[in-house]
Formats: sequence, structure tokens, C-alpha cells
Amino acid sequence: MDRIDKILAGTGRWSRREAAELIRTGRVTADGDVVSRREDKFPASALIRVDGEPISTEKYTYLMLHKPAGLVSATEDPREPTVLSLLPEHLRRIGLFPAGRLDKDTVGLLLLTNDGALAHALLAPKRHVDKTYLVRVEGIFDERDERAFQEGITLADGYVCLPAGLERLGPSEAQVTLREGKYHQIKRMCAARGKPVIFLKRLTFGPLSLDETLAPGQWRPLTAEEMGALGDAGGN
Ligand code: URA
Repeated sequence: MDRIDKILAGTGRWSRREAAELIRTGRVTADGDVVSRREDKFPASALIRVDGEPISTEKYTYLMLHKPAGLVSATEDPREPTVLSLLPEHLRRIGLFPAGRLDKDTVGLLLLTNDGALAHALLAPKRHVDKTYLVRVEGIFDERDERAFQEGITLADGYVCLPAGLERLGPSEAQVTLREGKYHQIKRMCAARGKPVIFLKRLTFGPLSLDETLAPGQWRPLTAEEMGALGDAGGN
């Protein structure tokens, strides 16, 4: 059981003081009854509404974002706009962060959450959560590139990558599957093959696939099915 002002403030949409004002003016109901005191306590199962609109009181939030180019995958940056700038004010106050990073010029699937434990589990190297990317390069992919990716590319700094998939889709286009996430990894793998990347889009992250109905810059909450799959992938 939690106090109603705490429940409302916990959504990130209102401060405790704003929540108290909503209650005082009779705009809050719990299971259909107007809540009159900010000290009143309710269980997590109570259906809380503000102005008739049901309020999500889930502990954590999970959003699928179609990251556009030009934003950095961070919560704050002294110089560049971040992916959080795409969210409305109330969702910028609840501690969301990108689970993993995409380069500023990379587009595609980015998971935003405030569930640190799940993000940590998904990103742990031993978990081997696959990620797939659409890659376009300057130059032509050939069979030798496929084999080199399979065997493990050696980067310019000597790091030997884990085996990765490269499936050719066109002369200069491929779907690449990675099991790890080193800094600029695909760009450096392709550079090692003499083929600079000119376009990079993440298509999948573990069990999540980019919802192609989301235009770049758009986002939506994960569905219950996606949540279940993600929990399985994170070992929950
Ligand atoms: N590999 C890269 O080089 N950049 C990304 O953003 C993701 C994978």
C-alpha cells in the first residue's frame, strides 16, 4: 500500500505538491471513487485515474524508439541533443536511459528504460543477446567478407571480434548480426575490410524487432508480448 500522492509522483508526471493539488480539486479517483486525502493509501492493483484517464503505476517503463540520425544515445550531453529530447516532459523525469548505444549517425531500434537490472542483464557480454543491423558501405561485399566475419574480424587495434554474421542483400548492402557491442564495432569491422560504412540501421535487439510503423524519432511502449520476450532474454 502506498500513499496516493506518492503513487502519482512516482509516475514522474507530477511533483508531490502538484499531486496534492489534483487530489484537493477532486480530479483523482481510485477504483471509481474520488480520492479526498493525499494520505490515503492504495494497493498496486488499484485503478487510479486523473481526469478520468487511467494512470500507469508500473514500476518501470520500457519504450521502443526509432532513433533518428543526429542525436546521441545518452541521458545528458554538454554539446549535443540526446535521444531523451524526443520524449515529452513527464517521461524525461522518470530516469529513462538508452539500453546500449548507437552512434550519433546510426538510426534504428533503441530500447529506453529505467529498469537498470534488465538493461544490465541484456547488455552483459555473457548473455550473447544478438543485434542485427542493416549496413550500407562504399565498395562491394563479397564471399570473402562473409567468411572473414564468420571467422572473426581483426580490428585495426588488434582486437579479434567474435564470429559475426554477414548476409549480403545487395552489392553494397548487408545484414550483419553481432554478439557483442564494442565501440563503433560495425564501422571498424567494415573498415578492416576496406569498406567504409555510409549507412547503419539497427533492426533487432535480442527478441525485439524495430516496429517499422515508427518513423525515425517516434517511439511507443513495448507490448506485453515484447516485455515477456525481453524478460526471458534478460534471464528474468
Ligand atoms: N556499430 C557501429 O559502428 N555503430 C553503431 O552505432 C552500432 C554498431
